[in-house]
Amino acid sequence: MKQFWTLAVAAACATTAFAQDFPTKPITFIVPFAAGGPTDRVARDLAEAMRKALGGNTSIVVENAAGAGGTIGATRAVRAAPDGHTLLVWHIGMATAPSLYRRLQYKPLEDFEYLGIINDVPMTLIGKPQLPANTYRDFENYIRANSGKLNLAHAGLGSASHICGLMWQSAVKLNTAMTTIPFGGTAPAMNALVGGQVDVMCDQTTNTTAQIEGGTVKAFAVTTAKPLSNHKLLKDYPTLNDMGLRGFNLTIWHGLNAPKGTPAPVLKKLNDALKVALRDPDFIKKQEGLGAIVAAPNDPRVTPAGHKAFVADEIAKLKVAIDAAGQFAD
Ligand code: MLT
Repeated sequence: MKQFWTLAVAAACATTAFAQDFPTKPITFIVPFAAGGPTDRVARDLAEAMRKALGGNTSIVVENAAGAGGTIGATRAVRAAPDGHTLLVWHIGMATAPSLYRRLQYKPLEDFEYLGIINDVPMTLIGKPQLPANTYRDFENYIRANSGKLNLAHAGLGSASHICGLMWQSAVKLNTAMTTIPFGGTAPAMNALVGGQVDVMCDQTTNTTAQIEGGTVKAFAVTTAKPLSNHKLLKDYPTLNDMGLRGFNLTIWHGLNAPKGTPAPVLKKLNDALKVALRDPDFIKKQEGLGAIVAAPNDPRVTPAGHKAFVADEIAKLKVAIDAAGQFAD
């Protein structure tokens, strides 16, 4: 018995010592979508803020592992060493995947540690520059008049752009009006939209603001319940709710996760650093400039338990919608 306690205390001391020295090598943020897109943008801004928060010679690199609506990158993160040096930056896809991908290689609530929610990002309904519509009404009428002839780009089944596209089509009862075209992320999808190869997309403001400002895409509406009145550019666009899609309200939350089994002192150090990063003026300025709403210090989702409870609710809520739609990835 004495030997047991000696070993237990030694192990605890080792873990605490490990946490004190953590990180002992570069930290990798896995982003399950292509580089240059909205999730990549959140991850790179957060990496800079958390690098400062962790201090010392901390370095954080972003690794893009795109495909299957984000589940390929998530699977890679689940299988990574549970030592805090590999983390996943993902979004609502974490909650859609278990219902859409019936042969998922992991269980979101069992195989991940939860480190906190980062932000909520509104979405915008946009079209290629040549689309013959300039208002939301024109846009909806044009889609209705050209049912079956147009396409909708997205970042894979269960991605934010896919879910938003499905929700909009179902809200305007145009479920099969457009052919959906998957990409490895909305960065490559945006290139195709700007180039006129695809017609329509619903994407996060963190990826659309610059294109709308530059006039390289047309914007028609935002997906929040209330207008984005604080945003210098997006304040001019109506909400889908105001356009008659009563109750339409969609923002995309992003969260930070670690593989199951990552030591508790390391998780605490990462969650503390995340909370500091979320108060970093540079991080807030960059994110809010692109329409994102950074999670507030008193947001219960910024705690590991609050984050996990929130995702559990989202999984249950989205399962109903996905089962009702009856569209599965496999
Ligand atoms: C991305 O980073 O490409 C997006 O988050 C994809 C999406 O979910 O629409």
